[in-house]
Amino acid sequence: MKKIAVFTSGGDSPGMNACLRAVVRTAVYHNIEVVGIMHGYDGMINNEFFPMGTKSVANIVHRGGTILKTARSKEFMTEEGRKKALENLLKHKIDGVVVIGGDGSFKGALEFSKMCNIPFVGCPGTIDNDLVGTDFTIGYDTAINTVVDAVDKIRDTAESHDRLFFVEVMGRDAGLIALRAGIGVGAESILIPETKTDVDVLIKRLENGRKSKSSKIIIVAEGDEAGGAFTIAEQVKKRLPDFDTRVTILGHIQRGGNPSAMDRVNSSRMGFAAVEALMQGKKNVMVGIIDKNILFTPFEKAIKHIQELNPDLIRMVNILSL
Ligand code: F6P
Repeated sequence: MKKIAVFTSGGDSPGMNACLRAVVRTAVYHNIEVVGIMHGYDGMINNEFFPMGTKSVANIVHRGGTILKTARSKEFMTEEGRKKALENLLKHKIDGVVVIGGDGSFKGALEFSKMCNIPFVGCPGTIDNDLVGTDFTIGYDTAINTVVDAVDKIRDTAESHDRLFFVEVMGRDAGLIALRAGIGVGAESILIPETKTDVDVLIKRLENGRKSKSSKIIIVAEGDEAGGAFTIAEQVKKRLPDFDTRVTILGHIQRGGNPSAMDRVNSSRMGFAAVEALMQGKKNVMVGIIDKNILFTPFEKAIKHIQELNPDLIRMVNILSL
């Protein structure tokens, strides 16, 4: 391993910069040349390669976003695009690649491996935590803290006006942000794609809980099968017109901000492990941390399923919520 490339891909997540810093500094320590690629797979296709060193990653451990920029590349989904990307990797004599991204990025790497023999190692960068093979993806902890902070503020106004709030959080396919953040804010109900949302049950719970608290917060994951927060709120409003109901969509604030201490530490460990994995000859695997230990999961497995929700947490939510 004489020269490696590193890039960020897909939706950005807080901690990607800390991971990049670890990749670059670990490689430098082992006398491996490092090249950064801008704008994800698009930059690989458009030859946006540049040399990186210790200094190029100074003062980024605490910064949100990604200094390498990122993209969801449409061109890389085509064979033509992947051929161009391969030509550039060969032109720059790249021996190994670290991709920091989510399931789409690893799906791309897997497809690419059919024509490209250069080993890829992935670091799980996504706020959604929707990958198998790690307890926490890079950015997930920060996103939860962002949601908790925002909903605490919503609770103040909700309580002052005796209102019912539906708060929509990110998570196209996974309710993990909703579940953890919902527990953290003491939500009255948490609606997630992994479990069936029954509006009748929700209404019953709201009616039963009338006396326990004057404000009510319902956390809705954006991918919930019953629709987003607006759709569900509309149905509830029709059936419970006496509730003063409001909807807040938290949106992309969940993707920004300085990474939490936990995200900084985890992403540093993963970036460090990714370089050493390439040196040991690993390929097409994702670095993860499970029970505090680093481990590697083949891309096929990491992207195949969404993490199963802890049934104890779901049971607890139902007991504590109303
Ligand atoms: O994959 C992370 C994520 O934040 C999802 O939770 C969300 O649905 C999506 O990205 C939003 O993507 P975009 O940046 O394209 O709006």
